[in-house]
Amino acid sequence: MPPTYYLWASPDCVPKDASGKFFACPQCFAQRCRRAHFRFDMANTILIGMQWGDEGKGKIIDVLTAKADIVVRSQGGNNAGHTVIHRGLKYVLHLIPSGILRHRKVCVIGNGVVIDPVALVTEMDGLRQLGVKIDRNLLISDCAHLVLPYHRILDEQRELRRGRIGTTKRGIGPAYGDKAARTGLRMSDLMQPIVFSKKLQAKIIENNRILQALGAKPISFRDVNEAYLAAGEKLRSYVTNTVVYLHRAMDRGKQILFEGAQGTFLDIDHGTYPYVTSSNTTAGGACTGTGVPPHRMDRVVGVMKAYSTRVGDGALPTEDAQLAQVLHNLGREFGATTGRKRRCGWFDAVATRYAGMINGIDEIAITNLDGLDQVDPIRICVGYQLYGKRLDVPPCDATQLANCEPVYEEVAGWNTSIHTARKFSQLPSAARKYVRYISELAGAKLSMVSVGPARGETIIL
Ligand code: GDP
Ligand code: IMO
Ligand code: MG
Repeated sequence: MPPTYYLWASPDCVPKDASGKFFACPQCFAQRCRRAHFRFDMANTILIGMQWGDEGKGKIIDVLTAKADIVVRSQGGNNAGHTVIHRGLKYVLHLIPSGILRHRKVCVIGNGVVIDPVALVTEMDGLRQLGVKIDRNLLISDCAHLVLPYHRILDEQRELRRGRIGTTKRGIGPAYGDKAARTGLRMSDLMQPIVFSKKLQAKIIENNRILQALGAKPISFRDVNEAYLAAGEKLRSYVTNTVVYLHRAMDRGKQILFEGAQGTFLDIDHGTYPYVTSSNTTAGGACTGTGVPPHRMDRVVGVMKAYSTRVGDGALPTEDAQLAQVLHNLGREFGATTGRKRRCGWFDAVATRYAGMINGIDEIAITNLDGLDQVDPIRICVGYQLYGKRLDVPPCDATQLANCEPVYEEVAGWNTSIHTARKFSQLPSAARKYVRYISELAGAKLSMVSVGPARGETIIL
């Protein structure tokens, strides 16, 4: 068998082993095979948020995209808000993968994403107005489920009642609910206007009854049908079988970056249920949400902030009002999708260690280190105390999690601005110690430190 990792130069490159020696193709036995007989399993990378979302995934994706050919979203919908700042311009991506901002990268919205077609068209128009080219560089899965207006209204209605989650009100929960109930409409339906209208009519009749029972206004089939079919026509040329596209691309040696949305503790299975989103935000979601099998994934990069934030309801064990005040006074930590103030707390090693386990994190990117520039001392949560017992992993139950008392260690701050540092050695020693320590606690190798929101404000280790 040839070695698993190849030095790779172009899709039809000559196969070489790690030392640069040529070897024979195992299929045609040619010494210098130029056919697509090789699968270059170099670096299909899953990028995951290790906390409660908004870890700075958009910024890190933008940095990593330089080396990828394809960027794929596999879950979530326009509840996501991924910020990329480049050349002084701020882009907030909701449904479109952050790779769209780079030339010659293909972006894919996978089957696991829930798509509001009207919102997607608006996002595309907004990006085009900022000079972003979108034509053959975007593909949309025909299997992706649709978010419809009744999903959004149901989401809003549920948020008015007891047991609210603090959702983004984008209709995400009800849309995934329909998917699981096998009553959802998909992109492929939207591509067939007669089929779509028929299914939509039945769904609107059913949902109007529910909306009326909740005291909400019914919605008009005609208006929704017209708006969705119009959006569908604008999206038609992008809709395809993205599973086949991704597999063919892998066969040609293309490298894929899987852009996670939300974060580990918003995962429907592993998060702080019920205060979660409705998809698998953890590494496994990248496979189910794209049709790329697990053995084709090469590494998992976890992104975590140097502290914790959460937007929406549910426990945030290390929440700290004073730290929140410091960050908000700096104009930071306001939601990219809803503009809500994010709740802030100290770095939580119990949570991030568990995230490392669930996702199989190989490498860590720490963002927003500069947020702690003027904070001294800095607290790190190294354990939870629940009813007199020490816990090293977060409890499954939301009430128990809310009752957990963090056990803190304190470390010295650096009391200076670090946003100009471009090499690890240029960081103050206290900052170096801090990032090394929190990545050690989270259990993976530190590979990137972000000291500002722009592309260049990044230290690669
Ligand atoms: P995402 O959802 O994980 O992509 O994160 P968001 O974009 O919602 O929120 C992260 C925020 O932090 C955005 O405003 C980014 O521009 C900003 N950001 C990311 N990394 C850094 C950093 O290292 N320093 C600073 N100051 N801001 C950062
Ligand atoms: P990105 O990709 C932070 C939160 C909501 C709410 C819960 C459920 O930018 O990190 P939903 O609308 O999904 O039903 O809301 O999940 N939430 C996020 N929080 N970042 C996100 O995305 C989020 N997407 C959803 O605030 O608590
Ligand atoms: Mg965000």
